[in-house]
Amino acid sequence: MSRHIVSALFIALSLAACGGAVEDTRPGQPVKHRQDAFKAILRVFEPMGVMLRDGKYQADKFASLAGELVAKREAPWGHFGADTNYPPTKAKAAVWSDAAAFERERQGFFAATDALMAAAQTRDPVQAKAAYDKVYGSCKSCHDGFKQK
Ligand code: HEC
Repeated sequence: MSRHIVSALFIALSLAACGGAVEDTRPGQPVKHRQDAFKAILRVFEPMGVMLRDGKYQADKFASLAGELVAKREAPWGHFGADTNYPPTKAKAAVWSDAAAFERERQGFFAATDALMAAAQTRDPVQAKAAYDKVYGSCKSCHDGFKQK
């Protein structure tokens, strides 16, 4: 009896985890790959922000995260091929219709992450925070124009 309740609960939870999201069923799964690449970027970027906000700045850890961010920053873009605007993407059509502006945002992000690397090398939390905020601003700026809420 209780075993049935447990398995029913388990099924309900696994369905909830899917949240009705559409899967990327196309060959090569470009949408899934770019979303995974952005999630990997967030996973290294977020702990940097936590460290700065909580006053637990550790220069070595921060610098190594900045290096990881730079290592991961190339990953999403190759998966934005023509004809890859389909569910479950959260990209706006402007990625493809205004490719020049999307490219400017991308270059701004590269410049901001270069500056973050340099700021991390100084080990100065004030410079680190300023550079972190600029990277944050570049994520947000691109998302405002090119990603659905
Ligand atoms: C040049 C534009 C651009 C920049 C810069 C950018 N993003 Fe994004 N991001 C996008 C687009 C477009 C998507 C939607 C991709 C899709 O769903 O196909 C996205 C999606 C995401 C997602 C959602 C993945 C998912 O499946 O829910 C996360 C998380 C994310 N970005 C984090 C970041 C972070 C953190 C930064 C900065 C450190 C950043 N992005 C910088 C354009 C950008």
